[in-house]
Amino acid sequence: MNVKFDLKGKVAIVTGGGRGIGRAIALGLAGAGASVVIAGRTQDQLDGVAQEILAAGGRVLPVVTDLISARDIENLVEETMQSFGRIDILVNNAARSFLRSLLDLREDGWDKVFDTNVKAVWLLSRAAAKIMIGQKEGRIINITTVGAEKAELGMAAYGCSKAALKMLTRCMAREWAPFGILVNAVGPGLTRTDFSKPIWSNPDIASHVESLLPMGRLAEPEEIVGSVLFLASDAAGYITGHTIYVDGGALTT
Ligand SMILES: NC(=O)c1ccc[n+]([C@@H]2O[C@H](COP(=O)([O-])OP(=O)(O)OC[C@H]3O[C@@H](n4cnc5c(N)ncnc54)[C@H](OP(=O)(O)O)[C@@H]3O)[C@@H](O)[C@H]2O)c1
Repeated sequence: MNVKFDLKGKVAIVTGGGRGIGRAIALGLAGAGASVVIAGRTQDQLDGVAQEILAAGGRVLPVVTDLISARDIENLVEETMQSFGRIDILVNNAARSFLRSLLDLREDGWDKVFDTNVKAVWLLSRAAAKIMIGQKEGRIINITTVGAEKAELGMAAYGCSKAALKMLTRCMAREWAPFGILVNAVGPGLTRTDFSKPIWSNPDIASHVESLLPMGRLAEPEEIVGSVLFLASDAAGYITGHTIYVDGGALTT
């Protein structure tokens, strides 16, 4: 059997592709041969990643997008179609969080987390799915977290939003399987990015957190990429509705 992992000729969108895990995923998809559209609010970060992809001989389109805006989501899909004419892979990676106890969290904070981490994923996935249905195939990969399974102090809104995203993954998988669209999730453990900087930049907190992890260290963003490439590839052609946790064993504790 000749199982293929390369993504030549495919077109991928990566939200939050300007830094952190999204940047690593965008570089990984481009390295596997896909044309990559990177979306986020910060133009200079998108431009920086675009330069890296171009310098490596890849094809890329940066699109400034605020996923809170339904109009921006429509624009992202329109610009992708104008430039590349199809959407094969959508990686819903962008997310936000606030470190607040449930007693201190504000109502608008809860809404911002859910609007970004759940509602925007539904809106963008729905728009992409309408294109993928016409193509009779597509892959959607949602980036969740071990926090969808474990109650982390001060992370309630975020954890609840990612648990909702895990269920949204399964619902989209079930509704869209008849159209050839496979929907899965990748759930990182703690990964060294701006998102987790308050943890890894403080040596005392970092060593305590690392002592609780079976592998004794945080993940690097590049270590999340392989599972995304696998789920985007022909090798994962009969997998839908699942989450792969890339967590160094965190969920065994
Ligand atoms: N780092 C970890 O420890 C960890 C662990 C588990 C799961 N994850 C998940 O991994 C994913 C990536 O996280 P990361 O660590 O790479 O975080 P990060 O460095 O903070 O990056 C977050 C990305 O999301 C984008 N974003 C946020 N709000 C947006 C909006 N309204 N519209 C468009 N883009 C938006 C940001 O771009 P702009 O600010 O430019 O818009 C940025 O590119 C997230 O889904 C996160 O939940 C991270």
